[in-house]
Amino acid sequence: MSDAPLRIGLAGLGTVGIGVVQILQRHGDLIAQRAGRRIELVAVSARDRTRNRDADLSGFDWESDPVALARRADIDVFIEVMGGHDGPAKASSEAAIAAGHDLVSANKALLAHHGQALAEAAEANGCVIRFEAAVAGGIPVIKALTEGLAGNQIKRVMGVMNGTCNYILTRMQNAGLPYDQVFEEARQLGYLEADPNLDVGGVDAGHKLSLLAAIAFGTRVNFDAVELEGIGSISIDDIRLAADMGYRIKLLGVAQMTGRGLEQRMTPCLVPADSPLGQLQGGTNMVVLEGDSVGQIVMRGPGAGMGPTASAVMGDVIDIARRFRISTFGQPARNLVAATPARTSSPAPHYLRMTLLDKPGALAKIATCLGDAGVSIDQMRQYGHSGTNAPVLIVTHKATRDDIDHAIGLFAGTGVIVGDPVAIRIEEV
Ligand code: HSE
Repeated sequence: MSDAPLRIGLAGLGTVGIGVVQILQRHGDLIAQRAGRRIELVAVSARDRTRNRDADLSGFDWESDPVALARRADIDVFIEVMGGHDGPAKASSEAAIAAGHDLVSANKALLAHHGQALAEAAEANGCVIRFEAAVAGGIPVIKALTEGLAGNQIKRVMGVMNGTCNYILTRMQNAGLPYDQVFEEARQLGYLEADPNLDVGGVDAGHKLSLLAAIAFGTRVNFDAVELEGIGSISIDDIRLAADMGYRIKLLGVAQMTGRGLEQRMTPCLVPADSPLGQLQGGTNMVVLEGDSVGQIVMRGPGAGMGPTASAVMGDVIDIARRFRISTFGQPARNLVAATPARTSSPAPHYLRMTLLDKPGALAKIATCLGDAGVSIDQMRQYGHSGTNAPVLIVTHKATRDDIDHAIGLFAGTGVIVGDPVAIRIEEV
């Protein structure tokens, strides 16, 4: 093995950073055999030097400033696993590229907000940016899209890409517990990000979807155009009734190029209970890729945690050690187009739940509203009455969200609706 070692600077010594150190210490020889040269960790940086960490860091230089680490002349690759879409993560990533270093990042927020500018800077400087760990943790979905499926026109990308949300939804389903109770459980288990809205508001998963969409459709990352809706309003009633109709509720990301522009959604959806997405349990992630030649591919695996995320980081570092170089989003950044965001999502069946006053003609009024809005009913059920109220569930034929919202607007004038109706898209998977 005559090649010079690949020298690494690592910024961030939280769960992921320590996972990277552990892999390097445990598998140094194996990785050297596979990469054709050794990978050497030269220097590390983190906020707190005194914290007890699950790895021996005594052999590495310490930099208290990640930007100084990123600029060091004795590294080839800067690994950024600090997180945050601005501040030190951005400054150090930019500094690394300016210094001519390759960048490996687990930072979905940074790339979702600044991916285009970083990619252009990297390409201008002859550097690569790799970010497998930023999307769906240990699942090698970026590699699948940029390499294995490079000969396909990608039709649709879907995924459950926030394990915390999937944990909450499946726990509600399996234990029959309300959202607030399971949210609290998730907090106690340490599953939630410091800002829980990143998880339950769909932001974290939306970041990931915007990155996959850029690769899949050759577009500039446009996180701001992702339609975002979190899981906070999903009730145990909806989970139970959806199950009754053969569905599961998931926080589902969908990206597809349509005649109306690029559609990017991260919203709660119903999926068939017996589909791979419907069967996904707990904190696991799943990404579904559809290409014109390959058909549908389903990738399932751990979306977070020390081992899986560090595994993805190391896959990228080893690629760089092997001198495999690829554009950030699978094609030169200057070629990525600014896609028009689709203003409305494609038509789909919808699940509607509402409570009606239990009196003659109530259901007929609702059916009329749906008809007037151009929405056709596929299935309907009326559930156990309580007092003067009648819970009603409707599954529509394909309709646009605008038509569904129009119908719901008309419901308000009927005088037979109690409370607010719930509408959830049913995704055909
Ligand atoms: N909080 C994320 C999740 C992991 O629950 O999947 C980091 O993106």
